[in-house]
Amino acid sequence: MSYADIATAGLRCLPPETAHGAAIALLGLTRPLAPPPPDPALAMTLWGLRFPTPVGLAAGFDKDVRCPDAAARLGLGFGEAGTVTPQPQPGNPRPRLFRLRRERALINRYGFNSAGLDIVAARLERWRRTHGAHPRPLGVNIGVNKESADPARDYAAGLARVAALADYVAVNVSSPNTPGLRAWQAGDSLHRLLAALADAHGRLDRAPPILLKLAPEIDDEALEALLDAIEGAPIAGLILTNTTTARPPGLVSRQRAEEGGLSGPPLAPRALEVLRRAYALSGGRLPLIGVGGIDSPEAAYARIRAGASLVQLYTALVYRGPRLVGEITQGLARLLAADGFASLADAVGADHRTPARPDQDATAISFAMARAASSGSGACVIGRPTTSAVAPARAASAGVATRA
Ligand SMILES: Cc1cc2nc3c(=O)[nH]c(=O)nc-3n(C[C@H](O)[C@H](O)[C@H](O)COP(=O)(O)O)c2cc1C
Repeated sequence: MSYADIATAGLRCLPPETAHGAAIALLGLTRPLAPPPPDPALAMTLWGLRFPTPVGLAAGFDKDVRCPDAAARLGLGFGEAGTVTPQPQPGNPRPRLFRLRRERALINRYGFNSAGLDIVAARLERWRRTHGAHPRPLGVNIGVNKESADPARDYAAGLARVAALADYVAVNVSSPNTPGLRAWQAGDSLHRLLAALADAHGRLDRAPPILLKLAPEIDDEALEALLDAIEGAPIAGLILTNTTTARPPGLVSRQRAEEGGLSGPPLAPRALEVLRRAYALSGGRLPLIGVGGIDSPEAAYARIRAGASLVQLYTALVYRGPRLVGEITQGLARLLAADGFASLADAVGADHRTPARPDQDATAISFAMARAASSGSGACVIGRPTTSAVAPARAASAGVATRA
């Protein structure tokens, strides 16, 4: 048993939020893990950034950038700090984090407890000054205050504030714990948000890629509308998905009745489905980060085959500890090799190109047919989303491919 295993077991004996704080503190204090260097086949280049492995740390673990190199210390390929709100705010009253031990899941209703942009930006500035360019990309996830008078303006201000300090910026429009936040995924609100982001983006000297983080409840119609809306907007990718307000059947832990966002294995089927749909609907042109219930190399690999260029972990790390990182990284390399892929990029979206298996949905089949019909013109251009190339795949999912 390693010291990390012992620490993980010890943390699980503490109340959940105390354990969360202690985990961040411990991570900053202890010697970084020294996992074997990752297989070069796992490296991914996206948005001009090199990710040594596609396995990253999801938002919400280090909300206030207390440990900016958390990802490196855990042997992960990238990190995502935040969510940070413009002004400091305490979030919801405690208790607000619950373990569903039987399901190895969590429910949280933190409600964007945040030190605020000034403190977070100062920490990032200090860290960037001391460490320079870091070999592991660090994204910053931005949100809005509960009492925001103008959320679109606040998102834009957040982008402007962290742009020079973040390798990518994730715009969180999907936390279930801030009333009204998810409305920014659709309709007029979405258009207003995109316009505000485009305006802020256009003024930046250094413009990092902007990603939208979506909720698992988004349905096909809303997803398709969102993909239409972001054509021409400075959106470089999607993160799929945040936690769910749904309570899938079969949950047995008493804490299942707590209000908040559910994460971990019960979220996995829906997070995978939304990811698969987003890849098919966007014709594989828009880089996607898959997150939600990933707890094994097989689960991570399934997300990549369904269309994720990168994946993120959170809840499984709480239950399994840092040991999981090596297991997933090494397992992924094995799975890639077993399927004959020379690089990770070759495996991204592979399910949409191979003959359908019984567990695949009709979208994947029609997308595969569309690719065949377009005789290769729709080659996947990871990292360079082109809006014009999205249309054929959307037509395919609407059945046009079968007429072609
Ligand atoms: C305790 C906790 C806090 C979270 N806080 C945030 C957050 O501040 N911003 C965000 O975008 N996602 C947040 N998330 C969602 C995760 O980033 C991730 O999308 C979700 O937990 C699904 O992944 P998982 O099943 O691997 O945990 C949080 C999740 C948990 C468990």
